[in-house]
Amino acid sequence: MKRQVVVAGNWKMNLGPGAAAEYASAFEPPRTEASVKVVLFPPTLAFSALREALRERGRTEVELGVQNIYWERAGAYTGETSPVVAREVGAAWALVGHSERRHLFGEKNSDVARKTRAALESGLLPLVCVGETWEERQAGRLTEVLESQLTPVLEVIQEVGGSGPSGAPAFHLAYEPVWAIGTGQTATPDDATQAHGFLRGRLVSALPGAESQRISILYGGSVSPSNVRELLAAPEVDGVLVGGASLDPLSFAELCLAGSEAGGA
Ligand code: PGA
Repeated sequence: MKRQVVVAGNWKMNLGPGAAAEYASAFEPPRTEASVKVVLFPPTLAFSALREALRERGRTEVELGVQNIYWERAGAYTGETSPVVAREVGAAWALVGHSERRHLFGEKNSDVARKTRAALESGLLPLVCVGETWEERQAGRLTEVLESQLTPVLEVIQEVGGSGPSGAPAFHLAYEPVWAIGTGQTATPDDATQAHGFLRGRLVSALPGAESQRISILYGGSVSPSNVRELLAAPEVDGVLVGGASLDPLSFAELCLAGSEAGGA
């Protein structure tokens, strides 16, 4: 089955409103909306500037998301971002469970599940990130770790329903080995295929057939214009989640072009 190819850029805590507007004027992804979905996750404080600048340039096909949300809608939660307000300002997506949130800010698997639910209930499309550390991989615990990260999320999906409006998938997944993030050390296409195949198997066993097949599984971790095509050609790799190489509009446009080729444009 042909799945939606997604090329997503996670700016992390980089680029403010001014830089975001400059980015939008230099960013020329291919106009092949059907074959690739392009998503940017700017820092919260640059979100509106980026949205406005993309709109002025007529690039409204570029979808936007927030890098993190809280699981409550509103209240005394100093410093947190409401999923409802994220939706109100124009976010369509929310990154959930990025490894930096898990490892630097102590997010647990149960928190990731609560955030997934909050995203779904607020009309945001969660991009749920999973992945093992180097030590876990060396200890032969890859599938055990992926399983423990994915299971609570699947329980939420089973409860809430695995399809969004008009049969669109309720969420997407990103496999991001922690040892490959920001290190320049990319997983090989075979490594990615192995992990993605395991995740696909779990989706298939937990969700109804058509639903489980519509969910895209993105690879993330030191993706660049020089390795993106071989990663996208790997079986079960349906897109990429990119950190460092998404900060430059020219290199990110190159990644989007590779995505549109993979999507059949
Ligand atoms: P990287 O980051 O591309 O800089 O390795 C990926 C990510 O953290 O999503």
